[in-house]
Amino acid sequence: MVKLSKKKKIKKKRKGKKVSIIGTGHVGLVTGACLAELGNRVICVDNNEEKIASLNRGEIPIYEPGLEELVKRNIRAGRLSFTTNIKEGVNNSEIIFIAVNTPPKPDGEADLCFIEAVSREVAQTMKGYKIIVEKSTVPVETGKWISRTVKLNNKKSINFDIVSNPEFLREGSAVYDTMHPDRIVLGVGSKKAERIMRELYQPLDAPIIVTDIESAEIIKHASNSFLAMKISYINSIANICEKAGADIKKVAEGIPCDKRIGRDFLNAGVGFGGACLPKDLQAFVGITQRLGYDFELLKVVEKINRQQRELLVSKVRDVVWNIKDKTIGILGLAFKPNTDDMRNAPSIEIIQMLQKEEAKIKAYDPVAIPVARGILKEVTYCKDSYDTANGCDALVILTEWEEFKRLDLKKIKRLMKAPIIVDGRNIFEPEKMKRLGFIYKSIGRST
Ligand code: UDX
Repeated sequence: MVKLSKKKKIKKKRKGKKVSIIGTGHVGLVTGACLAELGNRVICVDNNEEKIASLNRGEIPIYEPGLEELVKRNIRAGRLSFTTNIKEGVNNSEIIFIAVNTPPKPDGEADLCFIEAVSREVAQTMKGYKIIVEKSTVPVETGKWISRTVKLNNKKSINFDIVSNPEFLREGSAVYDTMHPDRIVLGVGSKKAERIMRELYQPLDAPIIVTDIESAEIIKHASNSFLAMKISYINSIANICEKAGADIKKVAEGIPCDKRIGRDFLNAGVGFGGACLPKDLQAFVGITQRLGYDFELLKVVEKINRQQRELLVSKVRDVVWNIKDKTIGILGLAFKPNTDDMRNAPSIEIIQMLQKEEAKIKAYDPVAIPVARGILKEVTYCKDSYDTANGCDALVILTEWEEFKRLDLKKIKRLMKAPIIVDGRNIFEPEKMKRLGFIYKSIGRST
């Protein structure tokens, strides 16, 4: 359960705001539930009727620790409701969050059609002052476009403000991240909007950074791209460690003592995936190109990330010789632990590369198998890690789920055709694996 501090519980007694959230995906749902928990009256809107019906029953369509109880508690308390009727949301709120999805177009840039459609509908519905908050990850200058769309579609010239309030929540810890943010960024165009948004977030006791709208939009691009860069950087260092006989895990412990660098996001592996970092990086490269800047650094970040997938397959080749007809067991399909999200998961590309070389694939993930079935065909999905290891020529670890760290490795060894593990997330110690009699390959450690 995600606990609030005593201080926050007391502050919950303040008069809440009336909020609506349009788009009940990962970001919208978590934001809505958390704002309700802080004492606000929140209406979540989505045009998917089935989704809204199940949410009204307290059923959550995504796997996100702590979210289900938060939603149920706030529905019971009368602070959270769900509807397909956008008018109901707009008419009963002062602050309207736009959290619809912005899928990538074929050229990598974000498709903003849903944002435009929602802005138009809000404009046609609103009867009094509203704050329209962009919460979806959007390209810089979207705030201006929303403003223009609202002005064009509101015949009564009703006053409104646009706010850019980017989210920084991570899947798998989204509720915790929302309740304990490192910072809240508010890109505002008026003092009134700043005051109301500060009041909304006051119970969180987090640093609030107020900027103009464009700067807030760029903060989001720059933060996610920086994180992606950090991962590609450490993966490059890992590759050098391997060649030089060093150990990336020790190196990654030594670098961050310098507080200017920090320890987070220095885990080498098969590279980043998920709904945000790959998409946002690609979108930012596109945006900067349009603005007349060739962001070569970020292009290389993307390239290194692709190469990490290929590197993993070459490690499998190194230990099994010919991949053709070998049975490869995959442990971990989700793009990271504690989620069933498979978007841009390294497992997809890696399994497809192995299948191209005619490997037989068995796979297991604690929660992502139902999602994986829709994406990866000709895979034997297994009931657990041992079932996967049974009869395998090699086991490949692609997600660092806690349960994999506690595997009975002696049993795994007995079940496998050959005791080979290729660890794309560095969850085991090479010395221990050697003692147990495994041929063990990992990332950035020279064994
Ligand atoms: C990310 C940002 O962290 C978040 O602030 C933003 O709002 C949304 O995008 P998320 O996509 O949920 O969050 O996952 P994150 O925890 O950032 O991990 C992204 C990917 O990077 C995962 O595939 C993960 O395995 C990988 N990663 C992360 C590494 O390979 N090494 C690391 O050290 C950290």
